[in-house]
Formats: sequence, C-alpha cells, structure tokens
Amino acid sequence: MSHPNSLVAGSDKMNGEFELKNGAVISTRAFKRDDFESLVVFFEGLHGESMRFSIPHYYDRARLETLTSDLERNIILLALHDDRIVGVAAIFGSSLLWLRGIGDFMTYVDQDYQNQGLGTHLTRLILEEARSKGYHRVSLEVVAENVAGIKAYEKGGFVVEGRMKDWHFGEDESYHDVLIMGIIL
Ligand SMILES: CC(C)(COP(=O)(O)OP(=O)(O)OC[C@H]1O[C@@H](n2cnc3c(N)ncnc32)[C@H](O)[C@@H]1OP(=O)(O)O)[C@@H](O)C(=O)NCCC(=O)NCCS
Repeated sequence: MSHPNSLVAGSDKMNGEFELKNGAVISTRAFKRDDFESLVVFFEGLHGESMRFSIPHYYDRARLETLTSDLERNIILLALHDDRIVGVAAIFGSSLLWLRGIGDFMTYVDQDYQNQGLGTHLTRLILEEARSKGYHRVSLEVVAENVAGIKAYEKGGFVVEGRMKDWHFGEDESYHDVLIMGIIL
C-alpha cells in the first residue's frame, strides 16, 4: 500500500481556478517556500471574529515555520485573488508509525471571502490531493458553534464522528464543545 511517507509533494493537481458565488475568480495552487511571508501576512490579517472559533488561538511566525517545514509529507493549499492569499487549507501528516497515512486538516478563509463557497472548494480539492498522495484518513476538530466550518467540511465529505464536551477554552474565556470530524479516503 502506498502511503504519504513514500510520496512527494508539489502535485500540480491543485492548480486551478474557482468562481465564488459573487463572481470573483480565485486561483488555487500548492504553497511554495517563497509564499512564507505572504502566509504570515494572511494570518496577521484575520480579524478577531475569524479567529473566534480557531483551534489554536493564533498562527504566528514561529508556528507557521513549524507547519511549513515538511512540504514532502504535508499538503498546503493556497487560494489567491489578485496574487494575494485569501484562503489556506492544509493537511499535516505524522512520521509516527501508528499514525501512518493519517492527516490533520485545517482551513482559514479571509473574512471578505467567507460564505462564498471557497472553504468547501478548498476542502474538496485538498482531500483529492490527500487521496492521490496515499493518505488513508483525515481528521479535524471544530468548535461546535462554528456552523460555517461544519457545513463546509460536511459538503467536502467529512462526517461528524464525535463530540468532546467543553474541550476548547475560547478567547471569550468560556468552554466550548468540539466536534471530531473525519473522512476515510
Ligand atoms: C470555516 C471557514 C473556513 C469556511 O469557509 P467558507 O468559505 O466561509 O465556507 P463556505 O462558503 O464554503 O461554506 C459555508 C457554509 O456555511 C453556511 N453558513 C455560514 N454561516 C452560517 C450560519 N450562521 N448558519 C447556517 N449556515 C451558515 C454558508 O451559507 C455556506 O453554506 P452554503 O454554501 O450551503 O450556502 C471560514 O468561514 C473561516 O475561515 N472561518 C474562520 C476561521 C475558522 O473558523 N476556521 C476553522 C478553524 S478550526
């Protein structure tokens, strides 16, 4: 069986265009090293409202350096409009034997581009890429009140597998339930 430990990143299958509900045309492609500073700027630009349901609370330069350090195993998909990053989806694998072929998913869309179908599109596109790279399963955790996220992930193919009570301490300083979602590819 093939698995992500034996495959390389950089597939051009994620290259493409996508029309938002408002008619804007977004291009998609894999993250490259040169995109790092733009990725930092993208996360700096996410408003508090966009980070309200975020697990974790922030993506600073140090965290992004770690997340972008293994582009062989991990998949990072960018959405761009006029050469500016407006959305990111990623799947992070693990070198641990018992997590072989199992990835963790995350996605963020710029607030001016939300609810236009982009999160759903990025979810579908990156899951296709994960499938072709040999991933077996992808999981995510989402705050139970994050209706837009849950809807986008379900439309992308994830199913709710469980609920963890009060698993997330939010920026509002209260606890929130978190749903576990997953997909077998
Ligand atoms: C979660 C997120 C990635 C989803 O991306 P998106 O581009 O907004 O999602 P989509 O437009 O593809 O899908 C959202 C769906 O939820 C629906 N929706 C949004 N808010 C809703 C609400 N309050 N009630 C019901 N449906 C709602 C939208 O109408 C849309 O459904 P539709 O396409 O059937 O009309 C994006 O909203 C985001 O980045 N949010 C902030 C960061 C975040 O929470 N990330 C996840 C961290 S774990």
